[in-house]
Amino acid sequence: MVDLNKIYNKKIPNFISRLNKKEITSSQCFNCLRETEKAIEKGYWKKFSKPMYYWYEMCDAEKREIIKYIDKYKPKTILELGFGSGRILNVLLKAKYNNKIFGVEKDSKIFKITKPLFKKSKNVYLFNENIDKFLERKTKYDLTIGMMNTIGNIDNLKLIQKIVLRSKQFIFTVYDRVYYKLRSNIYKSKGHINFFEKNKNYYFNDCWAKGLKSKSYSKTEIENICKLIGKKYQIKKISKLLFWVCIYD
Ligand SMILES: C[S@@+](CC[C@H](N)C(=O)[O-])C[C@H]1O[C@@H](n2cnc3c(N)ncnc32)[C@H](O)[C@@H]1O
Repeated sequence: MVDLNKIYNKKIPNFISRLNKKEITSSQCFNCLRETEKAIEKGYWKKFSKPMYYWYEMCDAEKREIIKYIDKYKPKTILELGFGSGRILNVLLKAKYNNKIFGVEKDSKIFKITKPLFKKSKNVYLFNENIDKFLERKTKYDLTIGMMNTIGNIDNLKLIQKIVLRSKQFIFTVYDRVYYKLRSNIYKSKGHINFFEKNKNYYFNDCWAKGLKSKSYSKTEIENICKLIGKKYQIKKISKLLFWVCIYD
């Protein structure tokens, strides 16, 4: 039984009450992502007031865009960067064609919780590693995915270049800098206590997110990254908080 008072420092966030007892784990990130996935599936988030509404709207938009994308391109091999609770893996698994899905996640705690959830999915291969090290294998994927600003957590152009080198198509979402203020209240309601904002980026020091940075981007900044990479690209807004970026051969 998870001691919620302990893991949330006696300030248990409200969203926890929307999970069944069996769904709650000792990973704060897992709990947040699992409830988000559940909310999207059930649709109750549509009644939430802003800015919480925008959090779920963003995840709903990601899900819809991914479904559209894989239906159109039917990639045979897919790599998800930072798969967390497996929210996106579950979306990918719904595709009705034969594909191999790889996932890499550096956080051992969330990895140990998520990996067993996919043990029956024979086409899913999960690795507890840093993306940088994982990509040393030099395998090339039809599609690489990095959702929920995972690329903004990494904020490393060399690594983005390496990802692109290993991917025929790379799709990722990043936070729109214009709406950075809205994210502060969202983080509070997700149980973060110890964080601050500087230059429209967020920095976290909660025990489960120590040293985590969440960068946000202007459209020009993303365009400059894409231009440096030198491939074709497309950038579009898919929700209030997010840019959707696609870099392709
Ligand atoms: C914001 S969460 C998003 C989770 C998932 N992609 C989703 O959309 O539901 C980012 C995830 O990426 C993982 N991550 C961040 N940097 C990573 C790296 N360099 N290598 C592997 N995983 C990483 C984090 O541990 C975290 O689980």
